[in-house]
This record gives sequence, C-alpha cells and structure tokens, in this order.
Amino acid sequence: MSRFMSKRFATLESYVPGEQPKTMQYIKLNTNESPFPPSDKVLDAVAEQSKVLQLYSDPDATALVNQAAEVYGVKPSQLLMTNGSDEILNFAFMAFGDQEHPFVFPALTYGFYPVFAQVNGIPYREIPLQDDFSINPTDYHNVNANIVIANPNAPTGLTLSLEEIEGIVKSNPDHVVIIDEAYVDFGGESAITLVDKYDNLLVTRTFSKSYSMAGARLGFGVANEALIQDMNTIKFSTNPYNVNRMTMAAGVAALETNDYYMENCRTIVEVRGWTKEKLESLGFTVTDSKANFLFAAHPNYSGEKLYLKLKERGILVRHFSREDIKEYNRITIGTKEQMEAFVRETTDLLQEENGL
Ligand SMILES: Cc1ncc(COP(=O)(O)O)c(C=O)c1O
Repeated sequence: MSRFMSKRFATLESYVPGEQPKTMQYIKLNTNESPFPPSDKVLDAVAEQSKVLQLYSDPDATALVNQAAEVYGVKPSQLLMTNGSDEILNFAFMAFGDQEHPFVFPALTYGFYPVFAQVNGIPYREIPLQDDFSINPTDYHNVNANIVIANPNAPTGLTLSLEEIEGIVKSNPDHVVIIDEAYVDFGGESAITLVDKYDNLLVTRTFSKSYSMAGARLGFGVANEALIQDMNTIKFSTNPYNVNRMTMAAGVAALETNDYYMENCRTIVEVRGWTKEKLESLGFTVTDSKANFLFAAHPNYSGEKLYLKLKERGILVRHFSREDIKEYNRITIGTKEQMEAFVRETTDLLQEENGL
C-alpha cells in the first residue's frame, strides 16, 4: 500500500476472482461460465456496433431496457442495466447501506458481499447456515437490516422457495431485500413476479451464466421505480456509460434469441444431473444444486488435493481454502464431453489413492 492510500481502505480485503489461466488450455470448470458460445445474432450485433465505437453508448440503455421489460414482464422504469451484476450489487450497497442501515447475508455465500459492505463503509452481519448448508428463511425475518441473499446460493446451489423469499421480503418492510438471481435460470424460482407487490425488493440478474456473456459484462436489477431511481443516482454519479455499445447490442440480441439460451440451460441441467449421479456413485457428498455448478466433497480425498491433482491433469475446478468448506470443490457444469473427462480423471485419482 502506498502512503497515499486513503485510511478508509487500509484494512480492505478485496475480492479474489477465480483463476483465469493465461497460458495452458484447461477444461475450465472454475468460474461458472457457460460452455456454450453466444448465439450468431449476438456475434453479428457485436460486429455491427464495433463499427461505431467512436460514439458513446446510450446512458439509458433504452433498447436493452425495452427488450428486457418485454421478456421479464415488467415496466422499463423498473429496470437498470449494469456492467455485470457486480455493479448493480455495488450500486445497491452504496445507495441503501450506511451506519444506520447495515446489511445481513449468509455466512457462506457469494464472496463479494462482504467486500461491497467494506468498500462502502457499511457494517454487516453474517448469519450462519444450517448444518446441511441450507439457509433457514426465518433467520431473516425482522432482522432490522438490509438483506442480500443469492437464490440459488453460491457455492452450494441450494434454493429458497418463492414463498420463503416472500416471507423474508414481507417481514422487513423498512429495509431493502436484494435477491441475487445470478443462477436462477438453472432451476430456481424467480422473485421478479414480486416486484410490483413490494417496494423494498430488488432482484438482480446477470448475462454472465445462462446467456454466455461473462466476458461482455452485463447485469441488471429489477425493482420498484423508486429503488431504480436511487440506484440511477449512484450510476450517474459514478459511470453514466456503464454498459458499452457492443455489450448493449449483444444483450438485445441475446434476449431476442432467448430460446437458444433456455435450451442450453436445459442441457446444463441434464448434464448436472448426470454428473451428480456419477460423483455420488464415487462416494462424494453433493449438494442438491439448482445452479450451473455442483458443490462436492469426498470423505477420503482432500478437497485441496483433488483440486491440485485435477489441475495437473488439465481440469480447473474452484477450491476455497476457508475452514468450513475446505473439503469441498465447486465444479461448474460444462459440456457432456467436458464432464465425462472430469468424471474420468476424478475416478482415476480416487483409484490411484486406493492403490488400485
Ligand atoms: C451469486 C453471484 N452473484 C453475482 C455474480 C456476479 O456476476 P457478474 O458480475 O458476472 O454478473 C456472481 C459471479 O460469479 C455470483 O456467483
């Protein structure tokens, strides 16, 4: 740290993204990207926009907002487009959190939430999960704080029902409840249907997973108009052109080719089921994930060792070193061929360990 760094950030621990390998070609199952390419229409839209990069993008993302409003059955004024969903989450922490309005979230969830709180100087409290890693919804009733819950949660993939989410939103009418639906297209129930009913609900979404656009950086929030306006104040005070031209056009084209992406999601769900069965037959404990990843541990094989040995064999999965989950790995669901390779190598490693 230089002597110029603000004291506000002296103890800030920044987010550590999953490895993005620069040299070797891995089967990359570590950052929950889609194994499928964008649709042809998206590729064409990007090429077209690249010709007019001398012009700023539309700060209101009008075409994209209108398209998304149609797809999600909400009003354009209930939407805000951002540079990945990380940005809408940060806008929400900035807009709604302060010393009097702390945040609560699960003790095991997306690792960026505590960072958003810290970087914005917002106090936060982490609520422990139950022994099976599930969230007890009533732990979030009347908490007197803003709430953020990923549904499905990461890295477990476990979900709360729409009824359970509604119970949380309803019991905290004077605080903002953010439901992060980064993985909802792989099997969760969306809370977007509740935004007209509750003025304290913000649902966040991303194009990074189900829409094969992690590299384009596109996310959005759906909420009551007043919440959207508040976050727009933050956006126009930080980065008005937060979504670039190519990404904006890619987003419109992706929503226009929705069927292609939803079909990809169905394939991923099918391959997830196949992979889970294989892992369980090898003796792994696997959570009932409704996301595009599995969270798995083996009773006789260390989580870190499996991660390292798979890496040696050209397969990257995500290992977290924190104590409570150190025996687990989070495995993104790739294509069937990629998952066959993963299962083959994992089987081989387990056999090697048993001296077979
Ligand atoms: C739960 C959750 N929310 C949000 C994000 C952020 O995604 P992005 O900024 O790519 O939209 C991620 C990314 O891994 C995530 O796991």
